[in-house]
Amino acid sequence: MENVKRTIMITGGAGFIGSHVVRLFVNKYPGYHIINVDKLTYAGNLANLRDIENKPNYSFARIDICDFDAVLNLMKAEKVDGIIHLAAESHVDRSIKDPFTFARTNVLGTLSLLQAAKACWEPFDAEKPYRFYHISTDEVYGALGFDGTMFTEDRRYDPHSPYSASKASSDHFVRAFHDTYGLPTLVTNCSNNYGPYQFPEKLIPLFINNIRHRKPLPVYGKGENVRDWLYVEDHARAIDLIFHEGKIAETYNIGGFNEWKNIDLIKVLVRTVDRLLGRPEGADMDLITFVKDRAGHDLRYAIDSSKLKNELGWEPSLQFEEGIEKTVRWYLDNQDWLDNVTSGDYQNYYEQMYKNR
Ligand code: NAD
Ligand code: DAU
Repeated sequence: MENVKRTIMITGGAGFIGSHVVRLFVNKYPGYHIINVDKLTYAGNLANLRDIENKPNYSFARIDICDFDAVLNLMKAEKVDGIIHLAAESHVDRSIKDPFTFARTNVLGTLSLLQAAKACWEPFDAEKPYRFYHISTDEVYGALGFDGTMFTEDRRYDPHSPYSASKASSDHFVRAFHDTYGLPTLVTNCSNNYGPYQFPEKLIPLFINNIRHRKPLPVYGKGENVRDWLYVEDHARAIDLIFHEGKIAETYNIGGFNEWKNIDLIKVLVRTVDRLLGRPEGADMDLITFVKDRAGHDLRYAIDSSKLKNELGWEPSLQFEEGIEKTVRWYLDNQDWLDNVTSGDYQNYYEQMYKNR
């Protein structure tokens, strides 16, 4: 497999999860040409890929996925034979303030990619079958109570936020393109990811940074909401496996069977940051500040990923304690990265860099 020549388009590759997927594919498959297609919104940052940006099998195209002509031209010119689609607006709080942007990118952007893929897709040989692989979220299934139930793949969709509604809509379009036109599609729905290179508006990087700088930790509501956390490299490994071995038209749930109540997770973060900074462990608990709840805040997510384990043999490789330790260390060691992405300067920097190329 490693030596087969393929051209894979990965959208959203300069964001959090996408950058890990691009890195994995570029390093693992030297015979593949990996094209990272990204608009570089506030969440996209080419510094996430500095370690692989000069590899001969990697290239970057700054394209808005809603730009149908640009997407189509690239797919045709490069003879793309696989698409892994991660580009999206991904932050629930932003979707509450600005739902149009979410509908545009997540729904129309996905549709634009599907239409372009349909126009270019030809039967490929068995060694490199065509795939349109759409990365989605567990949030499309809605919220669970505290009754121990979990989301399985046949769960009815019940999205509550504009973000999850836009992702649900994009999932439906992907399946419709399989059912209507026969496009070889795959969809996966994953739980909350954590790890290096996550934009610090999301809970874990935001709180690590705030604890370091002794800023308040804004806990929504009573902190009783539950999320199911997976280390981002385990998600990237699952994507690799499903892209190559998943059955066409199937849906796979991806999750770590690792549920945490927000407030308990936040206490782990406080203790870990304190310890790694040489402060008395737990000294910064007083930063915890309960604030107004997120509108429509889903109570609990829990992914049942047994299908993926039983059919393709995937399991998370990292224990949560180890993953959190690695993650906290990474953010503490990469304050420059955090400062850059929060300053907004990096966008101008990369804009200049690409103008000058
Ligand atoms: P992210 O916000 O970190 O990155 C998104 C990337 O998409 C950025 O690089 C951004 O520049 C790019 N992008 C946004 N709009 C674009 C457009 N119109 N055209 C081209 N590029 C555009 O997101 P993430 O957390 O890495 O999530 C990646 C994908 O995984 C999303 O589809 C998300 O719904 C899904 N997902 C995320 C999680 C999670 O916990 N973060 C869990 C499950 C699924
Ligand atoms: O479940 C998968 C989803 O996980 C992905 O599809 C989304 O793209 C990703 O952003 C994430 O969504 P969440 O809303 O669960 O993640 P977030 O980090 O924003 O919040 C995690 C929990 O922490 C949630 O219950 C809200 C709470 N929270 C979050 C922030 C940013 C706080 O209490 N305070 C905060 O400041």
